[in-house]
Amino acid sequence: MEDYTVSIDGLHGRKIVLGVSGGIAAYKAAELTRALGRMGADVHVALTEAGERFVSALTFHALSGNRVWTSPWDERMENGMPHIALGRGVDAIVVAPATADLIARLANGLADDLLATLCLARDCPLLLAPAMNRQMWENPATQRNVARLRADGVIFLGPEEGEQACGETGPGRMLEPGALCEALVAFFTPKRLAGRKVVMTAGPTFEAIDPVRGITNASSGKMGYAVATACARAGAEVVLVSGPVAVPTPAGVRRIEAASALRMRDEVLSALPGADVFIAVAAVADYRPAETVGHKLKKSGAAMRLELVPNPDILAEVAARPDAPFCVGFAAESHDLDAYAEGKRRAKRLPMLVGNLLADGLCGDDNTVVIYDDEGRHPLPRAPKAFVARQIVEHLARLLPTAAG
Ligand code: CTP
Repeated sequence: MEDYTVSIDGLHGRKIVLGVSGGIAAYKAAELTRALGRMGADVHVALTEAGERFVSALTFHALSGNRVWTSPWDERMENGMPHIALGRGVDAIVVAPATADLIARLANGLADDLLATLCLARDCPLLLAPAMNRQMWENPATQRNVARLRADGVIFLGPEEGEQACGETGPGRMLEPGALCEALVAFFTPKRLAGRKVVMTAGPTFEAIDPVRGITNASSGKMGYAVATACARAGAEVVLVSGPVAVPTPAGVRRIEAASALRMRDEVLSALPGADVFIAVAAVADYRPAETVGHKLKKSGAAMRLELVPNPDILAEVAARPDAPFCVGFAAESHDLDAYAEGKRRAKRLPMLVGNLLADGLCGDDNTVVIYDDEGRHPLPRAPKAFVARQIVEHLARLLPTAAG
């Protein structure tokens, strides 16, 4: 089972009709139903007759907690018109899998089953996740239908290239449920950073002593990666310069590996041209060994002295540039958060800094932060890092000077 917690905030209160048509990828729709529900969505499944041959209505009923709809003649709906009633108050219709046949029917405005009728009668966005054999996908008829639907404003999620159920390899695979969830959350996120370039740092740095040893800081990278995800979802171009972490690269983010502080600084400076925002989340080691030994050191039994020299302060350096982008700092403190955090903000001349107390732990999934800016302090409630990240991005988008300003 994939981990959907990063997106936990994304779909709360959203009513989604999930259309399932008849392809082998319908089995992934079962997992998608569950994932959407976990992310807070109210999922109502509309299953085609062919879809039901692959996965039963009972499965979707159990996973969504809602009745499943298969027929336009279904009399369970109060007014006897499920194609109208089911579509009321819906935030989006998502069809996964969308077969070549369904795409053809939708492109031609047919209303020959409940799902097609729902799509025709909708007043909400329609997102299709195609799934079919690569030849069916590449067939000019399918491509014509896709182009026509795109021109009508229908959004396509995938397909991706890969191994297919028929044994062939090529385009036509349905996106995985995790990727579909991510695409949906991004779809619903207001594009407050559209047209903006964000350069960021995240994770710890590792300052090598010899080829196998080094000094580092405790940092999982989760907060930084959550901020990168939130920026990408908000429409920004994101360059993430990252220390060594075990977190997957967020969708739509360009990740550059930089283990040491010196390397991180160089990568930040070369990514900086054109940046509107710089967000420094990395726990950069303040010192590095004066020299890195090229071979593995052997123990001698005697005491060992390690000379450390200070690392450059990447954030302070970027913020001091005459062409500095909007700079956001982070500070994790063991005590006196307000004094230290606000002190760092002023010392580094930052318009915004996010502070938190170490009591919360460094590597957990939740965080309690306070945002500091020229207006004062703004405490946020304890929440999953994805949720905190979204609020940080909203705050920064409000403070960001407009292009004209
Ligand atoms: N930072 C940086 N480069 C460094 C040190 C810190 O870019 N060499 C950034 C961090 O990414 C963070 C902010 O500066 O956004 C504050 O980092 P922190 O280590 O808390 O602050 P310091 O100024 O190093 O203060 P101290 O370690 O003494 O608490």
